[in-house]
Amino acid sequence: MTDRLTGKTALVTGATSNIGAAIAERFAAEGATVVVSGRSAERGQAVVDRIIAAGGRGSFVAADLDGTKRASELLADQAREALGGRVDILVNNAGVFPGGPTPAIAEETADLVYAVNVKAPFFLVAALAPAMVERGTGKIINMGSWGARLGIAGSALYTSSKGAIESLTRAWAAEFGPAGVNVNAISPGVIRETEPEPGERGETLMWGTPVGASGRPDVIAAAAVYLASDESDFVHGSVLDIDGGRTGVAVRGAAPRPDGLGDLPGSVAGQAALSPMGRCHDGVTVRSTRTEWIPTVVGRMKFSRARCARRYASVSRACAIASAESKVISTTASIGSSDPSLY
Ligand SMILES: NC(=O)c1ccc[n+]([C@@H]2O[C@H](COP(=O)([O-])OP(=O)(O)OC[C@H]3O[C@@H](n4cnc5c(N)ncnc54)[C@H](OP(=O)(O)O)[C@@H]3O)[C@@H](O)[C@H]2O)c1
Repeated sequence: MTDRLTGKTALVTGATSNIGAAIAERFAAEGATVVVSGRSAERGQAVVDRIIAAGGRGSFVAADLDGTKRASELLADQAREALGGRVDILVNNAGVFPGGPTPAIAEETADLVYAVNVKAPFFLVAALAPAMVERGTGKIINMGSWGARLGIAGSALYTSSKGAIESLTRAWAAEFGPAGVNVNAISPGVIRETEPEPGERGETLMWGTPVGASGRPDVIAAAAVYLASDESDFVHGSVLDIDGGRTGVAVRGAAPRPDGLGDLPGSVAGQAALSPMGRCHDGVTVRSTRTEWIPTVVGRMKFSRARCARRYASVSRACAIASAESKVISTTASIGSSDPSLY
């Protein structure tokens, strides 16, 4: 590490797991004193223990960010106190992401998503930005999502909250930037702490990208260090896509991967998985290359439009592909049923 944050103080919300934990640990490794925040004291203390074991400085401050101004102000006060009176860097990372069709979303779920993902960061910035403005320096980093700019069925509630965070990032950059406070966001792709099981749904969402797979939290932490450091002084209101290319790139001619996943046909399948309803077309042939996961699916199958429609619920989203040039595709996770009568 390079001491890029030496002498800085940071509050990282949602730092008790995955992305937030990686950011907190990386900040500390770069010399910052860090407040690790979240609801779980056990997981939070484990992160702090790792920070201290690595020679860094950090402490845990419990907070249930329920969206009220009071909860955010309380965390801001406690973090300030733990950090010796000053928060130089605020990372609004805590988030919840329940999915589901719009008509099935309960009012309490909608309230929770906007409370944690939008209102809590809003009131934290309200509580901490004024002192940054007064000092003429500060860094605010918001956590967006690739889903804010790529429509995904079943994610309307969550991704709309991330769209709000992107808008807040630009508005806050205009509001606080002239005083020397940098407000930016990171938009992660699918990020998980551990290697995924083959064919996991989250993993298929990354097919068709240059990377073709999910990322680990350290890729987000690296971007956060940049945005928290003096190196980003010229950056205002940006949203850094750290998403393996998910939002901006579609690969259709990638070299095969050694494990057979995410190859050219698989990449096309990945694109289809993200297309509305994984649209089905008469006569499209789907070939499973991973029959070991799908015992009943062997060799090639022909899907009719009617069959696709019937099978949609069990097949997840990528039931078939339409591509003028490519009538045969390989697919893995798209076949989700072991009921032979469905094929
Ligand atoms: N992982 C991805 O693929 C991905 C992709 C795009 C964007 N993102 C965004 O990145 C951020 C982190 O995601 P993640 O995957 O690391 O999530 P995660 O592992 O589920 O962690 C979420 C964090 O938020 C905290 N949190 C949740 N509700 C809270 C509440 N009411 N009050 C205080 N803290 C709360 C949790 O802490 P406690 O459990 O201790 O309360 C936890 O530390 C989120 O904003 C997410 O939307 C993630």
